Amino acid sequence: MSNSLAITLKSSVVKKQLIGITGLLLCGFLVTHLLGNFLLFVGPEAFNKYGHALTSNPLIYLAEAGLLALFLGHMGLALKATLENKAARPQRYYMKTKTGRGSTIASSTMPYTGAILLAFIVFHLQGIKFGAVYNVTYDGVVMRDLYKLTFEKFASLPYAAFYVVSMIAMAIHVSHGFWSAFQSVGFWHNRYTDSIRKAAIGYAVFVGLGFSILPIYCFLTGAN
Ligand code: HEM
Repeated sequence: MSNSLAITLKSSVVKKQLIGITGLLLCGFLVTHLLGNFLLFVGPEAFNKYGHALTSNPLIYLAEAGLLALFLGHMGLALKATLENKAARPQRYYMKTKTGRGSTIASSTMPYTGAILLAFIVFHLQGIKFGAVYNVTYDGVVMRDLYKLTFEKFASLPYAAFYVVSMIAMAIHVSHGFWSAFQSVGFWHNRYTDSIRKAAIGYAVFVGLGFSILPIYCFLTGAN
């Protein structure tokens, strides 16, 4: 093996590891975001107070900067790896066979489901985080009425449907990503293969169904 090939392979391994680590951290964000969003089922006060507790904490800026860095790092590296794999077939061969399994629909559509997720996130932030500001007062504290805004958005069938379709793409994306990330960071042994695969499917079903139920629930139960 030539020196330059060794370096290329090595750097592609490092890239995969970084994609895996950032992906797993984003998976962690998704779970906390989903659990917080489940407060929509509890009611406006619980949901709005939770949102207010998050956004009024000075550490939110640090958390948001970290989250943005994770998103940009994950997407940038994944895009670079995808383009490089296209340009150099042997490298792609190396990366796929490392896991000891062929490609699946989820693995070969990663760039597409990833692109859908990117479009979703821009749309989501524009509509909710940077969307209309309604205020509500609890115990003398004025805060954003994110509950009202969320229900208002999901009252539209196309809006709610776009969320559900995006969440299906997200579930497909993380079902492979979660599994692949464990391999990339070196946590890979024949003995654990089945457990990791089951955990990946379980995780994907949990976040996919969990995030899909919310717009469906809001759409069906109507505006507050
Ligand atoms: C039904 C599904 C969802 C609902 C109801 C929802 C709701 C919300 C709400 C209320 C906020 C807070 C806005 C604020 O801080 O002022 C938010 C922020 C955010 N959401 Fe979601 N979300 C959903 C799904 C998702 C998904 C699937 C992702 C990622 C793939 C996501 C990524 C984000 C991000 C990155 C932020 C900004 C966080 C921050 O700046 O602190 N959301 N979402």
